[in-house]
Amino acid sequence: MTHSGPKTPLEARKSGALSGRVRVPGDKSISHRALILGAMAVGETRISGLLEGEDVLNTAKAMQALGARVERQDGGVWSVRGVGVAGFATPEKPLDFGNSGTGCRLAMGAVAGSPITAIFDGDASLRTRPMRRIFDPLEQMGARCCEAAGGDRLPLTLEGARDPVPIVYRTPVASAQIKSAVLLAGLAAPGTTTVIEKEWSRDHTELMLQHFGADVTSSPDGAHGRKISLKGQPELKGADITVPADPSSAAFPMVAALIVPGSEIVLADVMTNPLRTGLIKTLQEMGAKVDVLATRNNAGEPMAEFRVRTSRLRGVEVPPERAPSMIDEYLVLAVAASFAEGTTTMRGLQELRVKESDRLAATVAMLRANGVKVEVAGDDMIVEGCGHVRGGGLVETHMDHRIAMSALMMGLAADTPVKVDDTAFIATSFPDFVPMMQRLGATFS
Ligand code: S3P
Repeated sequence: MTHSGPKTPLEARKSGALSGRVRVPGDKSISHRALILGAMAVGETRISGLLEGEDVLNTAKAMQALGARVERQDGGVWSVRGVGVAGFATPEKPLDFGNSGTGCRLAMGAVAGSPITAIFDGDASLRTRPMRRIFDPLEQMGARCCEAAGGDRLPLTLEGARDPVPIVYRTPVASAQIKSAVLLAGLAAPGTTTVIEKEWSRDHTELMLQHFGADVTSSPDGAHGRKISLKGQPELKGADITVPADPSSAAFPMVAALIVPGSEIVLADVMTNPLRTGLIKTLQEMGAKVDVLATRNNAGEPMAEFRVRTSRLRGVEVPPERAPSMIDEYLVLAVAASFAEGTTTMRGLQELRVKESDRLAATVAMLRANGVKVEVAGDDMIVEGCGHVRGGGLVETHMDHRIAMSALMMGLAADTPVKVDDTAFIATSFPDFVPMMQRLGATFS
């Protein structure tokens, strides 16, 4: 999203008990992948429950600009008619991914296997984020990044490979975006493309590739790592996808219910892929009453209904190897840690510095503005909880949806209201966040 209009501030104040049952919107990671793989498949892909947030809508537009037919049909089902592996057409205009690193980076991988040239661009936040980590392996596969602002940033021009080559790639950081970009480019290469990661990152791309008919295998590598191999040049066949609710969005009402006294809420259809549930595990270690009421399976992705009740939380230590399974949740975990008794130490947070904003710095600023003691030591963050939060702070959102939502959750239980300077970016991932939280009993003004 490009931020041109006036800012839209909002204040959250101490609320009565939260109650009710909600289904947060569809998972963002799965929504991007469904559109991209649908665009690379032959035949029709029908997607229900797609997240209709700005990040995903930008990916839909990009897939259309690359030649796929993407339509929203009556009843909210999205239909994608793909062009086949390596079948993308040269887009007429630069592809604008707005605020979304995932949309942009996965699309770079997808485009790298087609013999076309495309310009990738985004908003002021996305333009600050590192892209070499993506185009480095893509260049090894035969694509070329002809031009990139500052050598590593958007806008950048990518020339896809005429004869893509399969590679064996060790990712320098555990990142599902890097892994996915290499695998998507590997679809067009003859032979086997292999990605090895030190820590296992979310595997939605692997699961969905299998769902579309590709041959992907994955085996352990080292203590926490994984080796993933893909046989190139499959015929991907359009498939039906139902997108489960996003655990990274469910994290906000979940933490709110834990910290607002007397609350009891139910969160429906939350995706529980074990590579995404680090926050739930951590909250349970802190003493959170988060119970599974029912579970079911959905095209390889498990999901569950959770009941969440207000809990006395205690500080814990979060190990670095858990980071990939909760990388987007540290902001809201820091909010929970602020209301806990004792010290919460979160280790190995270096990747937070290169998200939609520098989330390490932003978390520290959010907590300090509201009277919470917090320190950063190297790549670790240490929050001193004392059971309650003074509040009263103004939090800058830095074009980052998750900062805005985390700060607002803090305000629902703080002694005095918490204000955010801009809520506009919440629409990138959770369009109905404010009304949904209000239905549960949240007080905003
Ligand atoms: C995502 C991967 C994560 C995450 C992002 C979504 C994905 O990034 O922060 O919000 O869908 O692959 P990294 O894999 O780069 O850590």
